[in-house]
Amino acid sequence: MLDKTKRNWWRQAVAYQIYPKSFQDTTGSGTGDLQGIIRRLDYLAALGVDVIWLSPVFASPQVDNGYDISDYRAIDPLYGSLADMDALISEGKKRGIGIMLDLVLNHSSDRHPWFEAARTSRDNPYHDYYVWRDGVPGTPPNGMKASFGGSAWEWVPEVKQYYFHQFAPQQPDLNWENPRLRRELYDMILWWMDRGVEGFRLDVIDQIAKEPDREITANGPRLHEFLRELSAETFQKGCLVTVGEAWGADIERAKLYSAPDGSELSMVFQFEQIMLDQQPGKEKWDLQPLPFVELKKSFARWQQGLHGCGFNSLFLNNHDLPRTVSHWGNDGKWRVQSAKLLATMLHGMEGMPYVFQGEELGMTNIRLPIEGYRDLESLNMYRERKAAGYPEAEIMASLYAKSRDNARTPMQWDDSPNAGFTTGTPWLSVNPNYTAINAARQVEAPDSVFSYYRQLIALRKSHPVFTQGDFTLLEPEHPKLFVYRRQDDAHQLLVVCNFSDEETPWTLPEGWAGADRLIGNYAPGEPGRLRPWEALMLEQPL
Ligand code: GLC
Repeated sequence: MLDKTKRNWWRQAVAYQIYPKSFQDTTGSGTGDLQGIIRRLDYLAALGVDVIWLSPVFASPQVDNGYDISDYRAIDPLYGSLADMDALISEGKKRGIGIMLDLVLNHSSDRHPWFEAARTSRDNPYHDYYVWRDGVPGTPPNGMKASFGGSAWEWVPEVKQYYFHQFAPQQPDLNWENPRLRRELYDMILWWMDRGVEGFRLDVIDQIAKEPDREITANGPRLHEFLRELSAETFQKGCLVTVGEAWGADIERAKLYSAPDGSELSMVFQFEQIMLDQQPGKEKWDLQPLPFVELKKSFARWQQGLHGCGFNSLFLNNHDLPRTVSHWGNDGKWRVQSAKLLATMLHGMEGMPYVFQGEELGMTNIRLPIEGYRDLESLNMYRERKAAGYPEAEIMASLYAKSRDNARTPMQWDDSPNAGFTTGTPWLSVNPNYTAINAARQVEAPDSVFSYYRQLIALRKSHPVFTQGDFTLLEPEHPKLFVYRRQDDAHQLLVVCNFSDEETPWTLPEGWAGADRLIGNYAPGEPGRLRPWEALMLEQPL
């Protein structure tokens, strides 16, 4: 177990993201719950993770699956009670697993009492907790669009003003310019820290310092000032791990966010690599083939850019993104090999790896009829593109590739009905491949994707080069191979990945002949070639 009383304990840690709605149901409601997570803690302990990032479980009307919070200090009855959360925190602690809550501080639900008061009168003390502009019905203050479609402005007749929302109309943006609002958020965070949580993930944190009059959303002028105040008033009073979601982060900004003095956060999620397969300047639905050489160079820039002066988060998927094996791997013939390869590529790097539930089993994307989708972003896109005359097949292809519901299908525990997720009707379809892809088959099987993840996580804990070494990209222009070297004062690590359905010629670089093989997704083969989706790691002393 990591000693979490030490500052920066998280530099050796591995996190696991739980999407609670889809993890484990214990009541037959069809929706996962906190008791379900407690039931599965031993599974997570076996995997070896140190932290659970829990997507929001706070009271919420669930318009955006909990990313619309109506009470930051209450658990939604869907998931259980505060007592269940306290039990989860203490049961997690016994196993060395901390809970990282997902705080949505950019916006609240329109059903939060603050907003319900704010919308009654311009003189209400809560009015200024949100972002309002004058206007006339039918003519919003400007043409800004919300991320989930439509205008970013919504008219409220009672106050004869528009409020600003970067996401759904039911997710009004909070006004961080207001010091009383900021204080309330800090007090709430301190209250959770007192209950024993060990970290926070901060939803769309780069968007809090918006200036809608100048059409600024991400990276507003006061962003880092707000973050430093937030951090000083809360996180720095404990030994917490914090990660901000920052679609707009570049390396220079990430150095501020993750400055080693802890003045802001521990790290951010940045999306440079994830966005490479979307057409530049277009939406995520507008697909293009993955530019592999650019992907490697992008990872290398971030690894080198933050080494010694910041910290990377390492992730391949989450609840908003496609399943990695379907996205960058081959989820057909080479599913097992490519799932292990992707893990090898990522877990060899410096930073904190995040495993998204089911990734450790090689779970895949799903194809649903349109009535089967539940995600509001997906449904809005379908409606908008239908109205704009896009062909049905093209819209569905975008959903199959990028719908957020790909990641949100229930966790596949075993081959019993509904994959052991629920005895009721699941809120979102279970992927029919659960009879073949499930935890029960994999936990004890030495060759499984699960066992491979377990080994990778253990390697990070036992070999300091994983957490300390610098990074050099080898063969940068190779169209199929991703090869890199890590090096610290004492050791060198070589990571080799063949991103291809074909055998690829490759020879061990000079000086590596006597190295130890730490892990690989095939039995050692003949020299001179790598098999389809073959990956391996070698280590040697300097
Ligand atoms: C983040 C969350 C996403 C949510 C959005 C609005 O991007 O990850 O799930 O819909 O913020 O809160």
